[in-house]
Amino acid sequence: MKVTVIGAGNVGATVANVIVQKNFAGEVVLLDIREGYAEGKAMDMNQASTILGSFTKVTGVTNDYAATANSKVVVVTSGIPRKPGMTREELIDTNASIVKDVVSKAREYSPDAIFIIISNPMDTMTYLTMKATGLPRNKVLGLGGMLDSARFKYYITKALQAEGIDASLTDVEGMVIGGHNDKTMVPLIKYASYRGIPVTNIINWDAILDAARETKKGGATLTQLIGTSAWYAPGAAVATLVEAIVTDAKKLIPCCVYLDGEYGQKDVCIGVPVVLGENGAEKIVDINLDGPEFKYFNASVEAARETNALLVNALKNVTEADEPEKKAKTKKK
Ligand code: LAC
Repeated sequence: MKVTVIGAGNVGATVANVIVQKNFAGEVVLLDIREGYAEGKAMDMNQASTILGSFTKVTGVTNDYAATANSKVVVVTSGIPRKPGMTREELIDTNASIVKDVVSKAREYSPDAIFIIISNPMDTMTYLTMKATGLPRNKVLGLGGMLDSARFKYYITKALQAEGIDASLTDVEGMVIGGHNDKTMVPLIKYASYRGIPVTNIINWDAILDAARETKKGGATLTQLIGTSAWYAPGAAVATLVEAIVTDAKKLIPCCVYLDGEYGQKDVCIGVPVVLGENGAEKIVDINLDGPEFKYFNASVEAARETNALLVNALKNVTEADEPEKKAKTKKK
C-alpha cells in the first residue's frame, strides 16, 4: 500500500518518518519542490530502517507526481508554516494556490486516494480541497482535532500532576472539536477523563479551564518557543490517521470533514468525531452537543465560514500575481 506525503519540511518529513517507524505501509513517497531535498530525507529514513527494522520503503522525489501514482492516501503539508505572532488564517493568501495546485496534480495520478490536509488555515484548505477536487466527502479530511486533542490531554495531565497525581500521559482521554483555530476550537471539557473517571471529579474547575485555554493556544505557544510551527505531535497525529485508514481500523478520531446537515451545519469543513477506516471518514458521530459546547461549536463554524469567504480573493490575487504577462498586456492597453 502506497502513501504519498507532499512536502518534506518539518511536518511532512516527520509524518513520513512516523509512518515508517509504525511499519504498516509498503511504501511512502515523499515529494518536495526543492531539488534533492526529499531524496535526502528518504535516504536518511531508509538508513534508519536498517537499524530500527521497518520494511516500509521511502522514495524521495523532486516534484515528480508520476512517482506518487496509485496512492491510497495523499497527505498535503505544502505551503508555509506560521511564524511567531501569526495566526493560521494569515497564511491563506500564500497557501490557497499552493494547496489547490498540489491537490489537483496528486489527484491526477491517484484518482482513488483519500486526501489528508495539514496546510493552514487547515479547515479552509480542507474546504478548498473538497471544492477543487469534487471528491466525495469521505475522501477529504483535515488534521486538527487529533493534534488539538493531544495538546488537551497533555495539559490535563499537567493539571493532574499539579494536584499531586503523577498521571501518565497515556492515561488521559480528551477530545477537541471545532476549527483548528486558536480562538474557537472546542475542548470537550465534560468528557475529559482519567482512565474513564471524569477529570471534573478529580481536579477543580479552574484548573480544567486553564488546561482548555492552554490547549487553544497550544500551537502558538510552540511557535513562540521554536520559531516556527510544531512537527512532532502533528507528525504523530497524521501518521495515526493514515494508519487507521490503511489498516481499516475503524478508529474514532476528531477530524475536519465536510458537514452536510450533521451538527446542524452544511457546506463547511470543521472538526467533528469521525470513524476512520479504509474508506476514509466513514461515519460522522453526532454527539448531540448542548449548553456552552453547542454555542462554542457554532461560533467555531462561523469563524471557519469567514475564512472560507476569503478563499475567492486569495485565489484571485495569486492568479493575477502568477500571470505577469497577462498583467503587462492589460497595462499596455
Ligand atoms: C499546529 C499546526 C500544525 O497547530 O497547525 O502545530
